[in-house]
Amino acid sequence: MPLVTRVTDLIGRTPLFELAATSTGTRLLLKLEQFNPTGAAKIRMAREMVLDAERRGLLGSGGHIIESTSGNTGLGLAVVAAERGYHFTAVVDHHACKDKLRAMRAMGAELVFVADDGDDNLATSAREDLAEAMAAARPDAYFTEQHNNDANAVGYYAVAEELLEDVERVDILLSSVGTGGSLFGTATRLRQLGCVPRVIGVEPVGSIAFGGEGGPYWQSGTGTPPGATIGTAVDYSLLDEGVKVTDVDAFATARAVAAQLGLMIGGSAGGSVHAALSRLDEFPPGSTIVTLVCDGGEKYLDTVFDDDWMAERDLLDPAAEAEVLAMLHRYTPTARRAELAEVR
Ligand SMILES: Cc1ncc(COP(=O)(O)O)c(C=O)c1O
Repeated sequence: MPLVTRVTDLIGRTPLFELAATSTGTRLLLKLEQFNPTGAAKIRMAREMVLDAERRGLLGSGGHIIESTSGNTGLGLAVVAAERGYHFTAVVDHHACKDKLRAMRAMGAELVFVADDGDDNLATSAREDLAEAMAAARPDAYFTEQHNNDANAVGYYAVAEELLEDVERVDILLSSVGTGGSLFGTATRLRQLGCVPRVIGVEPVGSIAFGGEGGPYWQSGTGTPPGATIGTAVDYSLLDEGVKVTDVDAFATARAVAAQLGLMIGGSAGGSVHAALSRLDEFPPGSTIVTLVCDGGEKYLDTVFDDDWMAERDLLDPAAEAEVLAMLHRYTPTARRAELAEVR
């Protein structure tokens, strides 16, 4: 790698990890987006939203960026703002991971909390309303509005390009849907490059983008809670199927993957991996399935990986973890099986 002068030069070229494979040649590959600066995929779109605003003359020198964020978008924007000399205000709520908030602050961001109503419901719509109102009140401010910003999806075009450098084709793209930017941006660019995968979106049970009853959920950074509007970044025309995963299964999967492989993935990635593993045998033989791991498990040491936190919320389920461990064992890729045999 050449010498770099900006943190954003370190974005991308993230590794592809073979998590699982069937005897019929189907394999599940994880695009490990935690290897980006900030440990998350979102910095890709944060940079693109800012560059797009500059190109369109919406953000002037020394201007002010405002965004509503559950954490990872804010981390990305904090880096880009520091690098390019902007002020950045993140509108956040009490659900955000404390470390994400501390890191945003460390990078110079101002944090504004929406009122804590003391319940478990996500405050997504309250955050967005406040961010919009704050931006409207300041002439130099630009509300990046990730849910309705075309640059969000464009920020992930490079993911598709990187994937096709590493594998011949992607048959199934299966990943979590929050704003929709990462899944639909990657799918759009894959199509432009001549690869048309089956697109399977994953959201938490309780999220409303794929219909069904809304309710509270703990998977962070993903889904659309009841009351929030579904933005334009969710491109239903590209979606072949939407599936839902419980918090219990998503978190059991993140914990089992960590315990079995030493790979720390976040809770939303746990949900996608659970959806993929549970159906691995259903996919046509020889399929290449790709899941984007939007962030790493290190951000969830106080939640998903904390037994007390999990138990207090009735999320700890040893049987669900054992089931995932069994699937990981059953679908161990041949190369890893051979390595294990050598060690033992
Ligand atoms: C933790 C987490 N989960 C899921 C996602 C997917 O979100 P989106 O649909 O907004 O791209 C992201 C985005 O990178 C994320 O950071």
